[in-house]
Amino acid sequence: MKVIGINASPRKNANTQTLVESVLNGAAQNGARTRLVNLRDLNINGCLGCEGCKKHIGKCVQKDDLTPLLQELKDYDAIVLGTPVYWFHVSAQFKMLVDRLYSFLEYGTDPETGKDYYRFEFPAGKKFVVVVSRGDGEPTQMLPQFYDYLNEWLNMIPLSLGASSIDFVHHYGAETDRKSAKNNAGLIEKAQAAGSRL
Ligand SMILES: Cc1cc2nc3c(=O)[nH]c(=O)nc-3n(C[C@H](O)[C@H](O)[C@H](O)COP(=O)(O)O)c2cc1C
Repeated sequence: MKVIGINASPRKNANTQTLVESVLNGAAQNGARTRLVNLRDLNINGCLGCEGCKKHIGKCVQKDDLTPLLQELKDYDAIVLGTPVYWFHVSAQFKMLVDRLYSFLEYGTDPETGKDYYRFEFPAGKKFVVVVSRGDGEPTQMLPQFYDYLNEWLNMIPLSLGASSIDFVHHYGAETDRKSAKNNAGLIEKAQAAGSRL
């Protein structure tokens, strides 16, 4: 089994990275081959909205480091996606990745039925783990509906890609402490267990 972990925190060796690495370690301890990608180290752009990918579904026209990574994702059995919470949503790096998944989307209208359809030109059946690190505790006193929405939104991404399973590792109450996850043995164990389940 091959597992890739994508860390979308711009902070080096901070909570999201620690937890993505822990998931990968759990998988590796059970024989998986793993690879960590820190999006902050790559030269990546957001989607241009050029619709160039609709001429060749699954192929983004941009020449940055995300284009080959998107292709590489298809080869993995499991994908670990990690993001910090920024402004009740994901980091800019994570959003760039998700927007670029648009290149796999094919949509149109069936000429026979007149019905709209959409499908992803991406191999279905992969397992996903989503890692989310946030400053606020749980339960939060601030706008809980925003976090509920974020969780649903994050769940929708693997679902759109035809995931066979989706597991979440939530880290609450980090505030600004980049070592908060490292100092939480129970949470590290949970992340490793999510990796083992892969
Ligand atoms: C720009 C920015 C926005 C943030 N917005 C939120 C937020 O809306 N909710 C929250 O709980 N934490 C927020 N935080 C705190 C981070 O989510 C928290 O520190 C998290 O652990 C960062 O992940 P990292 O340690 O992997 O970098 C924010 C931090 C930054 C820098």
